[in-house]
Amino acid sequence: MFFYRLKIFILRIVGYEKPLRVALLKYLSLKFKQFRPHYETILLESCLEAKKLGYEEVSILELGVAGGNGIISLEKYKKKIEKIYDIKINIYGFDTGTGLPNPDDKYDLPFHWKKGDFKIDKNKLERKISSKIFYGNIRDSIDLFIKENPKNIISIFFDMDFYSSTKNFLDQLNKIENFLCPRVYCYFDDIFNPNHWINEHVGEELAIKEFNKSNRDLKIGLSLDNINDFKFPLAKGHLFMLNNFNHKDFKKYIGFETEGTLKINDTKIKTKIF
Ligand SMILES: C[S@@+](CC[C@H](N)C(=O)[O-])C[C@H]1O[C@@H](n2cnc3c(N)ncnc32)[C@H](O)[C@@H]1O
Repeated sequence: MFFYRLKIFILRIVGYEKPLRVALLKYLSLKFKQFRPHYETILLESCLEAKKLGYEEVSILELGVAGGNGIISLEKYKKKIEKIYDIKINIYGFDTGTGLPNPDDKYDLPFHWKKGDFKIDKNKLERKISSKIFYGNIRDSIDLFIKENPKNIISIFFDMDFYSSTKNFLDQLNKIENFLCPRVYCYFDDIFNPNHWINEHVGEELAIKEFNKSNRDLKIGLSLDNINDFKFPLAKGHLFMLNNFNHKDFKKYIGFETEGTLKINDTKIKTKIF
């Protein structure tokens, strides 16, 4: 038994494709639940884009708050980014407060998640954060949220686990379309699971697929895996872009200064790593 386990362990280590430093970063994010380089860089890059578009205030949504580790880390990163880039960031959380609803739908993976998981200790959480949480099923809370008149929604962290909850939110996107930025950085947490239970036929991925099928002017897409991808550690495969094609600023130029570049004697690299 011991040698068999050892063999499988060695096979998994040797067969792991990513450099081990990536595995270490991932391990640290699992061990320290408020260490989230992916949350930080998505917040940072989306706010930078907002500034380029000329927006002074943005809104960020976390769908599925649970114990609050995600929103606590977002608040921590927000403080730094607001100061450095002189931008106001409003964070809004959404959760039933009573944990996962019943996974009625087979596409919710009821063999993987169960009702009541991730209940919130509201008093404890409210002592730790200043962001507003909309309690209740996402089915009902979006109508309340609209009354906040949220400014420029630039990123959304999807973490409600279920196909049905994600679909429910996406089906209501048209209600908040006027508050969305031209491009919205969307992090989908439950797009992969090491058992390979999640794929395009279930969960968040199915909800995205159906959303794209039934919309023309709002489309959610995933960039190709590419050697030039360096800005979002641990977000690989999880970061999608919601294209809001009808936005008045969708075509507004926010690229880098191109005047004088690509001349024959222009040999320096222009890409900024940070
Ligand atoms: C995995 S937890 C979120 C974890 C959190 N984002 C973090 O980073 O620590 C999933 C949460 O989604 C919430 N949720 C799932 N379906 C929902 C729905 N239809 N409406 C509101 N909240 C929902 C559950 O209550 C649960 O707390």
